[in-house]
Amino acid sequence: MNSSDQIPVGAVGELVPGQRKLAFISGRGVVLFNIDGTIHAIDDSCPHQGASVANGHLDGCVLSCPAHGLRFDLRTGCMPGPGGLSLATFPVRAIDGKLFVSLEDPAAVPAQATACNAAL
Ligand code: FES
Repeated sequence: MNSSDQIPVGAVGELVPGQRKLAFISGRGVVLFNIDGTIHAIDDSCPHQGASVANGHLDGCVLSCPAHGLRFDLRTGCMPGPGGLSLATFPVRAIDGKLFVSLEDPAAVPAQATACNAAL
């Protein structure tokens, strides 16, 4: 992935542990979470029926979708337990005090879902 794929989404300092932020990249909602100092970025679209997950309840690293309550681990995008749907996650990097997100090729999403099942 080259540097042109890195999209700036704000300053590192504006997202302290426990905070979250909704950013829009080319019209796509991406939610950033700071969990114990680690930044996670996910697609703001639940894989179940597309609801926004930006305001979902967070329990550790597990986010609950506000619509029907499906739960996703922000570190992997996977649902706890065997099988299930996979929430798209994106790599985040901090460069010179700024946060950059890389949106993955949509073709990578099925591979991620397979990885969830394979890990269990
Ligand atoms: S839309 Fe998220 S659980 Fe149904």
